Amino acid sequence: MDLSHLKVLVTGGGGIGVGAGVCEALDNFGATLIINELTKKKAVKAAKKYKNAIPVKADLRDGKAVEKMFKKIRKKVGVINGLVNNAGVGLSKEVQEIEEAEFDKVYGVNVRGAWLVTKYFVQQLLDNKTVGNIVNISSVHGFASQPKYSTYASTKSAIEGFTRAIAYELGKHNIRCNCIGPGMVHAEQNYDLIKTWTPDPHKWVQDFVDNQQVLHHFIEPVDCGNMAAFLLSDLSRSVTGQTIYVDAGKTIMLFNRDYVNG
Ligand SMILES: NC(=O)c1ccc[n+]([C@@H]2O[C@H](COP(=O)([O-])OP(=O)(O)OC[C@H]3O[C@@H](n4cnc5c(N)ncnc54)[C@H](O)[C@@H]3O)[C@@H](O)[C@H]2O)c1
Repeated sequence: MDLSHLKVLVTGGGGIGVGAGVCEALDNFGATLIINELTKKKAVKAAKKYKNAIPVKADLRDGKAVEKMFKKIRKKVGVINGLVNNAGVGLSKEVQEIEEAEFDKVYGVNVRGAWLVTKYFVQQLLDNKTVGNIVNISSVHGFASQPKYSTYASTKSAIEGFTRAIAYELGKHNIRCNCIGPGMVHAEQNYDLIKTWTPDPHKWVQDFVDNQQVLHHFIEPVDCGNMAAFLLSDLSRSVTGQTIYVDAGKTIMLFNRDYVNG
């Protein structure tokens, strides 16, 4: 794939997970990257890893900051034609224990933030009578869930509904919008989090891969990135409004593999 005609904003692109995988894949295929992060330092550090990337800072919960970020992008690289709404925060807590501020933070980034960025992205496309393409990042939690994930899961279901509605609304402008639902993406740094529910995180992850996935390999961030690259490319020109789970088969299982024993 040659994506050298694309200028793609990746929100939260300075992380270690899906965002980094998206940047890696788009960089491999020749796209120009605009990497958004919460802090300038993190955005600058991430941008240095790629051939053609510029850093931009904005807290996506702040509408004024998002508007300012788009002005800066316009000045630096002109109109952009790709967007990956990757930035996201998690929350694992029982519903009755969740504070309003925690709920607002998760919705503020995962839903409101994605809407705000999409709003300014679409505005600059329509103002300049040009076409573009949006990829949202959901999760397997948009499809099914587990205890303590009601807030996070509902933000991901929201982003999948947003994807369908936006795809319908913007189809007349030839703007496509699709969604990726990652499963458990492998990152060494996740082991600290996993330690909060199991004493042996490496065993827990291996058990998950063996029993909770159809394919027994770790899902790497770049696996999600390659799907984003495909959805941003003309190879997927007839695909819009869809959510594709990059989950090694997690969401298609009726029974876990340890149950079916094979
Ligand atoms: N990692 C996984 O296993 C996994 C699985 C399913 C879905 N996801 C989704 O993938 C996306 C990326 O998550 P990840 O865990 O891979 O992390 P990531 O490494 O891609 O990092 C996310 C980045 O978002 C940034 N961010 C957070 N709040 C922000 C804000 N208000 N404004 C701007 N940037 C902000 C953080 O600084 C961080 O660098 C999220 O939407 C997440 O829900 C991840």
